[in-house]
Amino acid sequence: MINNMTTRKVVCQQTIEYDVITTHDLFDPCNPALLLAGRAKDARRFVVVDANVAGYFLPAIQAYFDYHGIEARIVTFPGGEENKTIEYYLELSRELDAFPIHRRDEPIIAIGGGVLTDVVGFVASSYRRGVPHIKVPTTLMGYVDASIGIKTGINFNNGKNRLGSFAAPQKVLLDKSFLKTLPRRHLLNGVCEIIKLAVIKDAELFGWLEQDGLRSLDAHFQNEEGGRIINRAITGMLEELEPNLFEEDLARRVDFGHTFSYGLETRYERELLHGEAVLLDVALSMLVARSRRLVSDEETTRLFGLIDSLGIKLKTNLLHPNQLWHSLVERTYHRNGFQRTPMPDGIGNCVFLNDVNAGEIETAVKKLEEWMILKYENV
Ligand SMILES: NC(=O)c1ccc[n+]([C@@H]2O[C@H](COP(=O)([O-])OP(=O)(O)OC[C@H]3O[C@@H](n4cnc5c(N)ncnc54)[C@H](O)[C@@H]3O)[C@@H](O)[C@H]2O)c1
Repeated sequence: MINNMTTRKVVCQQTIEYDVITTHDLFDPCNPALLLAGRAKDARRFVVVDANVAGYFLPAIQAYFDYHGIEARIVTFPGGEENKTIEYYLELSRELDAFPIHRRDEPIIAIGGGVLTDVVGFVASSYRRGVPHIKVPTTLMGYVDASIGIKTGINFNNGKNRLGSFAAPQKVLLDKSFLKTLPRRHLLNGVCEIIKLAVIKDAELFGWLEQDGLRSLDAHFQNEEGGRIINRAITGMLEELEPNLFEEDLARRVDFGHTFSYGLETRYERELLHGEAVLLDVALSMLVARSRRLVSDEETTRLFGLIDSLGIKLKTNLLHPNQLWHSLVERTYHRNGFQRTPMPDGIGNCVFLNDVNAGEIETAVKKLEEWMILKYENV
């Protein structure tokens, strides 16, 4: 064999570091949090705000920057999965281009739910090959999940988050008072992700949800118990994300509930929110786990009891075994050829399965439907 190759190895290491800061009264001019990450004198900020959030806070946001003498271009963006599109990505990029910012010390500020922070994060990570950004989640989904990691994305070509990047924010600013105006369905949407985490990782958190979940929901998580639940969820999520930020290890506990839900979300974008699809997946997976004796009857009953106690009605009419199987096949491709399906191993623990079969999925769907009939037909 002729050796006709010359190799020059290039090695570079980059430390990823960002702060997840809990604060309150974010738009009080005396609170410096929003300006901490960048130049605060004679500076500019490009700020993208969820339209519903703007309805409550736009004057306060404008007043905040005026007070600090910062020239701010505040753009509103409509939340909702249907807007996680390349069109909005381009529109925001154009707006940004028309309001140039210093690419090192004038971070873009994203204030909104998971859709907004995903889209704006992607704009920031690709504009001029990357400008810094700050995320301010205003939904529970954003608070405990979407904003605290480094993934960005938009939906494309019928694929969820098909275009996106890994891009660490400079800071994440958590102010749970945003949750006061969040509609109940969207609060529950975030709760679904907390349930997922509890089942797979944190039995104590599961107990707290059983004990204080409903009360916290009613209080929009402004109560002490609600604060305890979401703090624990964030800590647990960060414990999982931090050692594997770039998902080099494809067996991720936090992917529990994200195997069958992928196909559900893609197909039923209008009917299902992200967390609702995740919870359907969690319920199905629990039944698969029960049939494999990974969880007990008592643990299964506890999960369904919790779902029930929170007033969540699972949309089991959207479950079709064939579609769920195809979702698993797609995720297997995404996970580099192995299913790596996280499954509960008792509440609070996790195993990864590579041999889930179509028959098991079908049986689980039937059981879930039976449970729904039992539950709701006699009501
Ligand atoms: N990047 C990640 O790691 C990651 C993780 C989990 C989820 N996600 C993504 O997050 C998205 C879902 O996020 P979401 O559930 O926050 O949806 P969303 O951003 O669409 O927000 C939900 C709704 O709540 C409204 N809203 C936002 N804040 C409000 C407030 N304080 N008061 C009243 N209304 C408010 C929005 O306008 C929208 O109508 C999905 O696209 C999912 O893929 C990303």
